[in-house]
Amino acid sequence: MTLSSTRTMESGKQGLTLKREVGLIGAVSFIAGTMMGSGIFISPQYVLSVIGSPGASLIIWTCCGLLAMLGGLCYAELGTIIPESGGEYIYMLRTTGKVTAFMFVFSFIIVMKPVSATGIALSFGEYVVAPFYEGCSVPQGLVKCVAAGAILTLSVINCLSVRLATHIQVLSMGVKILALVVIILGGCILLFQGNTENFNNAFEGTNVGVSTIGIAFYQGLWSYDGWNTLNYITEELKHPEVNLPRAVVIAISLVTGLYLLVNVNRHYFISMSHSTCYIETDPEILAMAHVHRLTPSPALIFTTIISLVVLIPGDFQSIVNYFSFTAWFFYAITLSGLLYLKIKKPELPRPYTVPIILPILVLIAAIFLVLAPIIDSPQIEYLYVALFIFSGVIVYVPFIHYKLCPGLLTKLTVFLQLLLKVALAEKNL
Ligand code: ARG
Repeated sequence: MTLSSTRTMESGKQGLTLKREVGLIGAVSFIAGTMMGSGIFISPQYVLSVIGSPGASLIIWTCCGLLAMLGGLCYAELGTIIPESGGEYIYMLRTTGKVTAFMFVFSFIIVMKPVSATGIALSFGEYVVAPFYEGCSVPQGLVKCVAAGAILTLSVINCLSVRLATHIQVLSMGVKILALVVIILGGCILLFQGNTENFNNAFEGTNVGVSTIGIAFYQGLWSYDGWNTLNYITEELKHPEVNLPRAVVIAISLVTGLYLLVNVNRHYFISMSHSTCYIETDPEILAMAHVHRLTPSPALIFTTIISLVVLIPGDFQSIVNYFSFTAWFFYAITLSGLLYLKIKKPELPRPYTVPIILPILVLIAAIFLVLAPIIDSPQIEYLYVALFIFSGVIVYVPFIHYKLCPGLLTKLTVFLQLLLKVALAEKNL
């Protein structure tokens, strides 16, 4: 459930239902708004430091945009074949099966969603604190305090009022676009004045190595993450068969263009970023909305707690690396699901379809991204992340498959429902 879905909910006697209210402009802003968090204000320096030269860094940013676009187009086909909201979870459930879908939900709720909020908040913290420490290194404790403050404030606002949260989201989007325009214009002025020395020998110092390239992609792809976000709310989209692919193409092209301009000008920018951490989620209790305020408070509270816990030991670069590793693992499974549908179920109605080469290419890229950081310099942390992802199966087998403690989940759900005054939203197909 997303901010926009809660906004479009109506409470009725039978429960909460979602309306198809999101048009093309809403859809484009939804994708672009999720993609343009605060990553673009901080990832360029990490991509550059990993890959070693401005020329190679621009190539990485271009490839990341291309990958997001191809991934988005593949997801558009999935979203029109399987019209349910819920993104990867629903696609895995319908193609690769319950176990992979459960593994995804498990990792998504416990790690990916909260960790992505932590990543966004940390980059926000860096930028708030940086102007006070010009020329010296920024104290990480302070950055983390600001990040924690941002996570808490936004969670409280999101729990209390969807309307206020929406206003803040629109405002923060405006501030971000303004900041990006300032960066781009500032850089252009300097370029026109002839300050082009940063572009001489653009490829000097490039680090080539499988894991270097993989990590550079992780950092760049973090800024593009969110390209798949519309697939989480397909049931709220007007004419998804037309608007889903259109919104993907428009939003990802816009964001890619903007990011490339920022990167060309990156040597010249100093700016502030404001970001909104909003929550998307799918399991039952966490998918409930507050009956009076229509805000997904259980999910928000849960995500906030984990985000804060992750903030204590986490640093931006590692958070982004582990997030991207997990995300691309699941994108790979989802894409293999699309390939399965294309090969084994060609008869299914497909209002929108992509050539089979596209999911093949994105799948190859996803497999490379998952393996690259562990090929030439394996780090034990990736093993822990992989173990965590697979530990979903350990939970699935006894509790879901063999229904051990059958009443446990229901009791917990009822308890939390009463505690938080929430009800489940109904499907809209
Ligand atoms: N691209 C965003 C940023 O640059 C991060 C998105 C995290 N993922 C998500 N599904 N919200 O800050």
